[in-house]
Amino acid sequence: MQAFDLSGKKAFVTGASRGIGRAIALAYAEAGADVALVSRSADSLAEVAKEVAAFGREAVVLPCDVTDRDAITHAVRQAVEGLGHVDIVVNNAGGSNFMVPFKDLRLAGWDKLMRLNLDSAMVVCHAFAPHLLERGAGSVINVASVAALGAPFLAPYAAAKAGLVALTKSLALEWAGSGIRVNALCPGWTATELNRTLWEDEQASRNTIGSVPMQRWGTAEEMAHPAVFLAAPASAYMTGQVLFIDGGATTA
Ligand SMILES: NC(=O)c1ccc[n+]([C@@H]2O[C@H](COP(=O)([O-])OP(=O)(O)OC[C@H]3O[C@@H](n4cnc5c(N)ncnc54)[C@H](OP(=O)(O)O)[C@@H]3O)[C@@H](O)[C@H]2O)c1
Repeated sequence: MQAFDLSGKKAFVTGASRGIGRAIALAYAEAGADVALVSRSADSLAEVAKEVAAFGREAVVLPCDVTDRDAITHAVRQAVEGLGHVDIVVNNAGGSNFMVPFKDLRLAGWDKLMRLNLDSAMVVCHAFAPHLLERGAGSVINVASVAALGAPFLAPYAAAKAGLVALTKSLALEWAGSGIRVNALCPGWTATELNRTLWEDEQASRNTIGSVPMQRWGTAEEMAHPAVFLAAPASAYMTGQVLFIDGGATTA
């Protein structure tokens, strides 16, 4: 057994068109897994599928809005049909496109971020539950955030990610005896499209990473390699854990 080898494994990755999700999908393909790629933009997914194919692995492209429950349930079914089975489920699609003082928060904004960052992962887990339980094997990785510990002006995002951590631990406990592991990966500041306005502006970038002990932004690849670890035999005795990849930010 190779500790970090994913040969023969089949993975389902949401938010795979760019950023951390794309990096995870490619790292899985490099480690030997076939991958179902999910996001809204079919064109970008097709580009990622070509990169997966360059590693000699199969990619199934599933354009889908993860906030649409019927669509995501259908995508889960298509992934199982297309790949034969699924071993690894990564709930990565998410983010927040606004920061606002809580008193000015529009309640519709709360609902939107809950649907994107928490409900979507719950529906994916719910749709995969019969398949994973029947196989008695699997690794679920929920991409949360350091914001799960609390973040000013980001209350809906932070609360959704904290909910995702609680969902992770609940399913880990419920499924531990069934061969299914469930862990969360919490990125710190990672330079992607999500926060381009911050890292492109020199002053904003300095302010952002001022609180990071490593004094720099993380990269999508630096999130992807721990995601390989969480999917692989290397973490076989690990479930219900929350892995912070944040340059030391939550330690300081
Ligand atoms: N970057 C950071 O600093 C950071 C820090 C902590 C946590 N995170 C978390 O890491 C995850 C990935 O973030 P990222 O930085 O890689 O963001 P990103 O570059 O904005 O990528 C987000 C991905 O999610 C997909 N997506 C967004 N809304 C979707 C929807 N409704 N349905 C389907 N797919 C959707 C996007 O694809 P389409 O647009 O094609 O749909 C894209 O593939 C998120 O959960 C985020 O909260 C990021």
